[in-house]
Amino acid sequence: MRAGNTPASAWPNNFIPMNPDTFTQSVPEPFPAETKTQSSFYRDVLAGLTASPKKLQSKYFYDAAGDKLFQEIMNCPEYYLTNCEMEIFSEQTAVLAQTLTNRFEAFDLIELGAGDATKSIYLLQYLLEQKVDFTYLPIDISSNVIGQLGQNLPQKLPGLHMRGLNGDYFDMLKEASQLSLRPKVVLFMGSNIGNMPVKEAQEFCQAMRHQLSPNDLLIIGFDLKKNPKTILAAYNDAAGITKNFNLNLLKRINRELEADFDLNQFDHYPTYNPETGACKSYLVSLKKQQVKLGEHLIAFEENELIDMEVSQKYNLQETDALAKQAGFEPIAHFFDGKKWFVDALWECV
Ligand code: AVJ
Repeated sequence: MRAGNTPASAWPNNFIPMNPDTFTQSVPEPFPAETKTQSSFYRDVLAGLTASPKKLQSKYFYDAAGDKLFQEIMNCPEYYLTNCEMEIFSEQTAVLAQTLTNRFEAFDLIELGAGDATKSIYLLQYLLEQKVDFTYLPIDISSNVIGQLGQNLPQKLPGLHMRGLNGDYFDMLKEASQLSLRPKVVLFMGSNIGNMPVKEAQEFCQAMRHQLSPNDLLIIGFDLKKNPKTILAAYNDAAGITKNFNLNLLKRINRELEADFDLNQFDHYPTYNPETGACKSYLVSLKKQQVKLGEHLIAFEENELIDMEVSQKYNLQETDALAKQAGFEPIAHFFDGKKWFVDALWECV
């Protein structure tokens, strides 16, 4: 079944059609609204804040305000990751595209965590110019982001075949991979894999491999180990945007889950361990305090931590090993000029 032939009635509710040309029927009704305490957001937050040590999941950073703060982080002078990957995609577009078109006549290009596609747009535009037969399937955890992408991208790239999916990477990858029988090229850029601890990243790559077929391709971005001061600075910007990015999750919890975090009573503590490559962010409770979460009261000791986010850094050998343990063969590495970042091309074996 070709993606373009899928009847609208068969689309799941989180499936956001984006190309008006290929979308003729009305958008399906959303799921009935979950009550606050039934939502998986609430359940995850409650479980995380009653665990020891306390933990929140960084995937929840990305509400509308969080999206905006992440945009600002990407514009911070200290946050080098985006510029490095932008350099790779803007300066090596033709080689990147050829590695795909050498193998496939037609394919689905699935992007996990597409964001505003500012980096992948170079590849999309090049493929369009070369009249390559492909469908772009961007996936993002932020409904806000995926909605905007659906507005903007068809204007920037007329003729692009595109469908957006809003949800968890893995659920949506599963859906996207079942939309057609064409070979798949998955883009997983931005060092988004870094948000998983290594063991979870291994399992994620294995699970991704199970969704794909032999010869399918994955382009995956890793932030590489480098001078530890450079890395720490990227998560400790002088303007305090990363701090607000972390605090914004507390704000979101206040707003969406009937909580009463006092943002002034928490501070941001970024760390980088150059031995393990784990760059971690914490919030620190500045006093002994109780925070309401729905019907619950969460007790904090003075200086108690909330584990907010990991951004794992790798060396090249570690990325190759990650590929192999999951059933991929690393076949090319695309670096920026400083070799601070790599987009690795992995083939399913
Ligand atoms: C979007 C996961 C790539 O970990 O570098 C930026 C998110 N967190 N600053 C990263 C983030 C703090 C970012 N990723």
